[in-house]
Amino acid sequence: MRRRAVLTAGALAGALALTGCSGSDSGSGGAELSVSSPYMPQPVSADMAAGFLTITNDGGTGDELTSVTSDVAGQVTMHSTVGGAMAEKSSFAIPAHGRLVFSSGGSHLMFEKLKRAPKQGQTVTVKLTFAKSEPLTVEMPVKSATYTPSTGH
Ligand code: CU
Repeated sequence: MRRRAVLTAGALAGALALTGCSGSDSGSGGAELSVSSPYMPQPVSADMAAGFLTITNDGGTGDELTSVTSDVAGQVTMHSTVGGAMAEKSSFAIPAHGRLVFSSGGSHLMFEKLKRAPKQGQTVTVKLTFAKSEPLTVEMPVKSATYTPSTGH
């Protein structure tokens, strides 16, 4: 039993070393994050708005989205939707070679304490902070209040 456990740990260390050598040498800890399809439906409320985007991880190491800030909001929270009810979460996992999707009816960003009312055609600046990777800044376009992306799924 004991010997077997040692062998497993050795194999794991070898796999990690290989992963470390194979990525682009950007020093970002192995996750390779990019953001696509960001948008905010023009809010109907004066003090609250929702936002959606997809974060894709092309790297071999998982990461976590740990906080979100924006120039238009005093606070941005991250919500999951479970059985039609929203629940605030302190972080969302971004799996290796996977995606984190915020989409209408699912997980979403909640912009609270709005400093101005975002209007269709404008953009809002959103900063995403991760557990390992460098922060990303996204220009999120404001769409119509009823906008839905035309992706089939
Ligand atoms: Cu919410």
